[in-house]
Amino acid sequence: MMSRRSPTIVLLGGEGIGPEVVEAAASVLAALLPQARFVRPPHGEEARAAYGEEMPAPAREACLAADAILFGATLQHTRAVLRFLRWGLETYANLRPARTLPGLPSPLKRDAPVDLLIVRENLEGEYPGREGDLAELAARWPELRDNLGRPLPREGLFTVRVTTDPGTRRVAGIAARQALARRARGRPGKVTVVTKQNVLRKTDGLFLDVAREVLAAAGVEHDHLYIDDACRRLVAAPDAFDVVLTPNLFGDIMSDVAAELVGGLGVAPSACIGDRHAYFESVHGSAPDIAGRGIANPLATLLSSVLLLEHLGLAAEAAALTSAVGRLLAEGRVLTPDLGGTAGTGEVARELIALLGD
Ligand code: NAI
Ligand code: MG
Repeated sequence: MMSRRSPTIVLLGGEGIGPEVVEAAASVLAALLPQARFVRPPHGEEARAAYGEEMPAPAREACLAADAILFGATLQHTRAVLRFLRWGLETYANLRPARTLPGLPSPLKRDAPVDLLIVRENLEGEYPGREGDLAELAARWPELRDNLGRPLPREGLFTVRVTTDPGTRRVAGIAARQALARRARGRPGKVTVVTKQNVLRKTDGLFLDVAREVLAAAGVEHDHLYIDDACRRLVAAPDAFDVVLTPNLFGDIMSDVAAELVGGLGVAPSACIGDRHAYFESVHGSAPDIAGRGIANPLATLLSSVLLLEHLGLAAEAAALTSAVGRLLAEGRVLTPDLGGTAGTGEVARELIALLGD
């Protein structure tokens, strides 16, 4: 068992800007937690050359033994890494907070402060992708009808969307816990379940029924919106949201919208939580358009590191890092180009380390 201030943190950079932002974040984490142990297992292309696979046994074992994992992003050679982090470690709840940050412009017409948390089901729905030919499905399942009573079209493709009772129950449990924790901090502690149950009557019908049952049993106030209406309201009145609980694909899309309301992908963090393991990554991807130029914004990964510290019970360190990021943004001197500045990834990390020492 780790002593609290000497956790073992696995760093998996992934591809594109992933390694750049993960190393920048690791340098700040090392300054905050001098006794932490950082492990950098081989993965991706490098591991394929040495082990014949992208996520070889040493990397998997390091993750299983870690106190927490910080991940960059995937492009093409690290998809197996992401698959392991999600389905291998069963990290079924993706927490994506969106909070107004000092000094950052918002595209909103109204100056409403945003402080919401999207809880996205992380393992079911349309993921990890099961698609096929409609002709084949029609041949194997001739009696399948749509909501209008019609048989399948003969040409085209289909995708399978999966919703299960236990899969929904466990992520609804996380949403309930998060809502109660937020209520204890003075937030409303209310969960809005977001689905497309009017069309996807069975899958989203089950998601909504199970979510309501779990939230009611936990004593959490809750309501329901359809995904289209929820997106409209997210832009019109984001301050009306506290916790959102939604299936995988809707959560993926909605969280990019929420990110843009509070400064963009460069500052949007996320945590993927399971019962035994957790990993932390930005909402953004590998940004191949700016990779290798040293200008990627590390703040999304650093704010993901705040979630990592909170997960490890290191509340003081998490608060110190949050406050340093807040000061950096408010001062506005050392910012990457996506936020209107001219600083590089490493300069932002060094400035944060200096602010932590102030
Ligand atoms: P993206 O998030 O990588 O980039 C979208 C835009 O935002 C780009 O213009 C990029 O330059 C900018 N951007 C993103 N992060 C930034 C940062 N930290 N600093 C400054 N600018 C930043 O999304 P895109 O382009 O749709 O996807 C690129 C690749 O990433 C794809 O292969 C996609 O599958 C993958 N991806 C991986 C994810 C993951 O590993 N969890 C999540 C999302 C996408
Ligand atoms: Mg996404």
